[in-house]
Amino acid sequence: MVETERLLLREWREDDFEPFARMCADPRVMEFFPATLTPEETVAGIERGRAHFARHGFGWWAAELKETGAFIGFIGLAVPYFEAHFTPCVEVGWRLAAEYWRRGLATEGARASLRYGFEVLGLAEIVSFTTVANVRSRRVMEKIGMTHDPADDFDHPRIAEGHPLRRHVLYRLRANAA
Ligand SMILES: CC(C)(COP(=O)(O)OP(=O)(O)OC[C@H]1O[C@@H](n2cnc3c(N)ncnc32)[C@H](O)[C@@H]1OP(=O)(O)O)[C@@H](O)C(=O)NCCC(=O)NCCS
Repeated sequence: MVETERLLLREWREDDFEPFARMCADPRVMEFFPATLTPEETVAGIERGRAHFARHGFGWWAAELKETGAFIGFIGLAVPYFEAHFTPCVEVGWRLAAEYWRRGLATEGARASLRYGFEVLGLAEIVSFTTVANVRSRRVMEKIGMTHDPADDFDHPRIAEGHPLRRHVLYRLRANAA
């Protein structure tokens, strides 16, 4: 578990499922993904997350707002499940319920995740990526000190050719630059 000023980044609990399914069915939250998720797809995602924690010892943490105890989404570190020119690697990522956006919460949790990755896991580099048009997510990447080299841009191998979300930007941060 990791604690920040306003957040607990913790293990998932059974009662996280309902608010997580609600946010994954929200078109605002899923604007830059191919589709919103059904409850069954959300359960499958949580199961994959559990398996990731078991295999790697880290993953997407459930993010809880300390002030209210509310589950607000996930923030954390993960090993991408596809191959690309920059894999294998560890990425930092985030997905929050829309009512909690624009308070700097993703940035706060992402900074703590980077510290954990560099200081506890001893990683040499952490990356992040998103579709080109996802300005909110790119802004978080920039605010946490990551840099973007257009030469790293790539086509996401799990998104169909010709799909508008296929082109992705990659941001990187090395431990000695953090
Ligand atoms: C991306 C996401 C986690 C950001 O969460 P957040 O807590 O609102 O992020 P922060 O408040 O820390 O920072 C967001 C930044 O984006 C900016 N921003 C928000 N909406 C914007 C918009 N429409 N255009 C440009 N910038 C925007 C904010 O102003 C802020 O930057 P600033 O501090 O310089 O003003 C949240 O929007 C989200 O969950 N989106 C849906 C899921 C998603 O896309 N996840 C990432 C997939 S790679």
